[in-house]
Amino acid sequence: MDLPAQYTQQYQWRDWPRAYAVLPNLNGKRVLDLGCAIGDQSRDFAEQGAWVTGMDQNPDLLAIARRRAIPRARFIQGDLSQLGGLQKASFDLIWSSFTLAYLTDQAAHIADWQHYLKPGGYLCLIEVADLLAHAPLPEHWRAEVLVFYRRAGAAKRYDFMAGEHLGESVNASGLRLRHQQTLPDRELAFDGAAPAAVYEAWRLRLARMPALVKDLGTAFVEDFLATLRAPTHRSDSRVHLVLAQR
Ligand SMILES: C[S@@+](CC[C@H](N)C(=O)[O-])C[C@H]1O[C@@H](n2cnc3c(N)ncnc32)[C@H](O)[C@@H]1O
Repeated sequence: MDLPAQYTQQYQWRDWPRAYAVLPNLNGKRVLDLGCAIGDQSRDFAEQGAWVTGMDQNPDLLAIARRRAIPRARFIQGDLSQLGGLQKASFDLIWSSFTLAYLTDQAAHIADWQHYLKPGGYLCLIEVADLLAHAPLPEHWRAEVLVFYRRAGAAKRYDFMAGEHLGESVNASGLRLRHQQTLPDRELAFDGAAPAAVYEAWRLRLARMPALVKDLGTAFVEDFLATLRAPTHRSDSRVHLVLAQR
């Protein structure tokens, strides 16, 4: 299964209705979807009447988003650490789900992104915290997982605790924090044995993380997948949402 197909499948496991419920009415509003991938959330906003700009750095994902010919949505290629080509103070909502963690210096990016909001405009962010915190993983892995997280952050690859600092980063940016909550997620934060499709999605996710295999070895991957299958499985990872206003 290629990456676009994996993203298509993941959509069903996130609680998008609960996330969208915190947003203002988007009818006729301008929305910037940062890290839009194949355009699933852009489509949802456009269906609510918004004029959407989706931005991503991956041309293959953008090609799929464009082929969908979503009314009122356009898709542009760009690096989220340099929004320079966009007009400042022009969006009613900036949305970014499961993307900011790739940029690692989240407070600096939020501080930059807010300039693209109209006064009174909203920023909505969704990120995971502690992706690999699942029980009953053998206890000895925890210390190694934390070292792996630290290395990923130091190498500016991925911030595995991104979800946990969203509120703090928003406050530091000068935006007003309006709402924060955790979201249920049937792939990233669930209890009980993983259904076959979720298990397979995790297997593919771990295969997309070569640094994990290099640092922790295939023994970790095997133990982690076995943990997901255990009837006593429990996720301690959480999906966090924050909504802030300029
Ligand atoms: C995990 S996907 C999230 C997709 C979608 N927002 C969702 O919630 O399902 C992360 C997306 O961020 C994009 N991305 C990561 N780093 C980026 C960067 N520096 N600039 C632009 N896009 C980036 C990736 O190409 C990918 O499409």
